[in-house]
Amino acid sequence: MQSNTPSRDTFSGKFGIIAAAAGSAIGLGNIWRFPYILGENGGGAFLLVYLLFVIMIGVPVMISELLIGRKAQLNVFGAFRKLAPGKPWFLIGVMGVGAAFLILGFYAVVAGWTLQYVYYSLTNALAGNTPDQMIQVFEGVQSTKGWSLFWTLLFMTGTAYIVSSGIEKGIEKYTKILMPLLVLIILVLNVRAITLDGAMAGLDFLFNPDFSKLNSDVILEALGQAFFSLSIGMGVIVTYGSYIKKNESLGGTALSVSLADTLIAVLAGVAIFPAAFAFGMAPNQGPGLVFVTLPNIFNQMAGGYFFGLLFFVLLSIAAFTSSISLLEVVVAYFTEELKLRRKQATWIAAGIMSLLAALCVFSDAAFGGFDYVSSNILLPIGGLLVVIFVGWIMDKNLPRLEIEADGKKARYYSGFRFIIKFLAPIAIALVFLNGLGWI
Ligand code: PHE
Repeated sequence: MQSNTPSRDTFSGKFGIIAAAAGSAIGLGNIWRFPYILGENGGGAFLLVYLLFVIMIGVPVMISELLIGRKAQLNVFGAFRKLAPGKPWFLIGVMGVGAAFLILGFYAVVAGWTLQYVYYSLTNALAGNTPDQMIQVFEGVQSTKGWSLFWTLLFMTGTAYIVSSGIEKGIEKYTKILMPLLVLIILVLNVRAITLDGAMAGLDFLFNPDFSKLNSDVILEALGQAFFSLSIGMGVIVTYGSYIKKNESLGGTALSVSLADTLIAVLAGVAIFPAAFAFGMAPNQGPGLVFVTLPNIFNQMAGGYFFGLLFFVLLSIAAFTSSISLLEVVVAYFTEELKLRRKQATWIAAGIMSLLAALCVFSDAAFGGFDYVSSNILLPIGGLLVVIFVGWIMDKNLPRLEIEADGKKARYYSGFRFIIKFLAPIAIALVFLNGLGWI
């Protein structure tokens, strides 16, 4: 039952860790999923609940996952087995690995659409389209299954290629350069979006909370979105935590990653909603939102060809760095627990994921189902179990020792402890049961 590998890869330093973890967190979840889920769930009030969940639940769960990973120095399954030998807590790991398969299954399809839009931008195929034509293009993308499958598989292959080459040389290298560039272009888009005629209605929708829109479903969606966007509740952060050196700050990492993630989601909203309203498009049109609103802005700005192309290239890259982390959860598990070699593990996992992705290309029900079950069910349950584990099951002193392993006193510790012992478990359980209509 020996599951330590002789030498584990690690991140080279602070910036590398934050870039990789933020690379995982920041992705289609921020730019594609957040705006459309917000659009379907009433706007500003959703945003407020979302922010509350990120701060009160997201950050503490992320710290908990980081400390579990770094303490155990293992994949998500092995970590729980090592920290609670002979007990069923390793099931969190089983669930996490399962969630990684489901999430990457539908995620790769959306990433495939992104690649397709890179191609459209490159060939200038969207120029001069009316808003209605933009919608038709997106519908065509969804219904032309063969091409959808092609781009999805291309994306999976690229992801597998990077993961097969390891942590530092693969994941870290690219994210460090590309994430800042993405922020820059979103800022440019923001400026253009808020200066469109009629932009105010969009900002109003995003920032003016209408509390009559809140109900138990909306609140569960906000919780699910917070987990999804922060990559928590399924083992990515446990796995990445296991690559972090002892002298790095876990609290600082969690805070920076969560802040960056939230900022990008809000900025994506600021680019998308003014455009939706200015061009007379519905804010609640679902998964096509980003793909039909933003190309309209590109058509209306100087250098639109260049910015449009750059945007979809960077969005694809953001999708890559998140997918890499999803695949890495499974690969770490396969190599450490099933003793497969890294390359083998990567291609087997990617192969299974590609089958699931193909299913999502051909079946909307599978696509929606994978998304709903992972975001709104598996991740919240995973997060709930993680905080119970750290708050109630782990040896009482361990969390503090691990958090303070960098030699600095964690002044926030008692607040953190209170949240993970009481507030977070109760809040997650209530939102979850209420959202499913069980209480
Ligand atoms: N957080 C990623 C995004 O927002 C998606 C993701 C979810 C990645 C869960 C890893 C784990 O796009």
